[in-house]
Amino acid sequence: MELWHDRILILDFGSQYTQLIARRIREAQVYSQILPCTTSLTTILAHRPKGLVLSGGPASVYDKKAPKIQAQLLDEGIPILGICYGMQLVTNLLGGEVARASQREYGRADLILDDASDLFKGVADGASCPVWMSHGDRIERMPKGFRAIAHTGNSPVAAMKSVGGARRIYCLQFHPEVAHTPNGVKILRNFVYDICGCKPTWTMSSYVDTAVGQIRDQVGKDQVICALSGGVDSSVAAALAHRAVGKQLTCVFIDNGLLRKGEGEQVQKTFASHLKLNLRFLDSTAQFLAGLRNVTDPERKRKIIGRLFIRNFEAEAKRQGTVKFLVQGTLYPDVIESVSFKGPSATIKTHHNVGGLPTKMKFRLIEPLRELFKDEVRVLGKELGLPDEIIWRQPFPGPGLAIRVLGPVTSERLAMLREAEAVVDQEIRQAGLYREIWQAFAVLLPIKTVGVMGDQRTYEHVIAIRAVTSVDGMTADWAKLPNEVLGRMSSRIINEVRGVNRVVYDLSSKPPGTIEWE
Ligand code: XMP
Repeated sequence: MELWHDRILILDFGSQYTQLIARRIREAQVYSQILPCTTSLTTILAHRPKGLVLSGGPASVYDKKAPKIQAQLLDEGIPILGICYGMQLVTNLLGGEVARASQREYGRADLILDDASDLFKGVADGASCPVWMSHGDRIERMPKGFRAIAHTGNSPVAAMKSVGGARRIYCLQFHPEVAHTPNGVKILRNFVYDICGCKPTWTMSSYVDTAVGQIRDQVGKDQVICALSGGVDSSVAAALAHRAVGKQLTCVFIDNGLLRKGEGEQVQKTFASHLKLNLRFLDSTAQFLAGLRNVTDPERKRKIIGRLFIRNFEAEAKRQGTVKFLVQGTLYPDVIESVSFKGPSATIKTHHNVGGLPTKMKFRLIEPLRELFKDEVRVLGKELGLPDEIIWRQPFPGPGLAIRVLGPVTSERLAMLREAEAVVDQEIRQAGLYREIWQAFAVLLPIKTVGVMGDQRTYEHVIAIRAVTSVDGMTADWAKLPNEVLGRMSSRIINEVRGVNRVVYDLSSKPPGTIEWE
């Protein structure tokens, strides 16, 4: 059964907030999708959108290379919300005038409503509300058939709407999608519910039904394979595929000997015991450690691990016989990055997904999370019965502890790091910081330092603690962990982990540091 969801399309003109618009609309339980602004009119209409949002963007409508849309789109009778650049574009296309504002407006402004009907219904009790602006151009003259519905000190037309005629166009100079516009959510909801007439049907339980149906149709009676890492994306993708095709799915978990304490057991417990999913657990520790013997260069470590991972997976796929489909946990942000009109270069993508399997493997892909944001994936995971330990797991790099044991990777050094890592993990959880911190972990340094324990001189290893806050891993700041938490980590590591006599804390942000040390 395929459920049809009302949908809002967002045409992306390159704003850093485009994804936020999509998220806000989805939080209102209406399906929204981002398309590059270069999408053809035919394709846009084929999506049967109930409404369109024209995003902001860095260009000025008068730039030679300013991104445009076909003006005809404005006359299709579909409700349109133009935000910032989107507003200026509408003005420009319909014969109004946009000019550089004498004073650029960034940050908070007070919006005075001149019309508190439809779009602004319930938005401000008094006549004004704070909004967030970020623009250099402004509307000097509205196109014919438009009326100003709000202004600020610097923008006589901070919002406008079409009146009379068949057009249903609304435009905002400010950004309703950002948290600094406290009433923005209300404005977006007025647009999607009242103006576009969308119903709030986009929930993760409805998504399960849709996705399960689609996977079943796609797979038929064939066999499906999935490389499970235990991270949230691959776990949710596997659980969803399992719901759809049950025993036709085999998951492969490769224990490369570079996992954290108890990690392999946890994955087995969750997937094989709890979800009763076909799980092939390959213990390839010896092979990986042999491959890494005497290797100290970080990039070489990554390449060796990547190659061995693929070799193991290929061998397993062959063993399974005729596997046609591969499940992957690709998320919506990865997909959007590749469609943004600026092209993939707009975002720096993680350089190194070791889980990435070679394209020459002849599988057809099943990517059931392609339309979802990370927070939606978590809700979906919960819906599918995955435990919180999996749903809220902090990111863990594919090459595992090998890039946290600086210098040679041996089982002794891994064991030392594993114990230290477990302490960091326990203390972060104990302090109630696990979800707030992007990643917290230990690194074993390739040096020894002098210490004194009891009355004995020691000459032992150093552990660095790394804890960062981040939104997406692209940039990060070192976490201001409470001193008591750091103190407990340090004394526990020194007392409990044999071979370590010193603990240091990493105070570098990214950039210029990276999150991992190698
Ligand atoms: P860096 O160290 O580049 O890390 O600041 C950014 C994020 O990516 C993770 N990371 C990796 N993930 N394979 C992965 O799958 C890798 O080789 C790898 N290296 C780093 C890192 O943990 C952080 O979340």
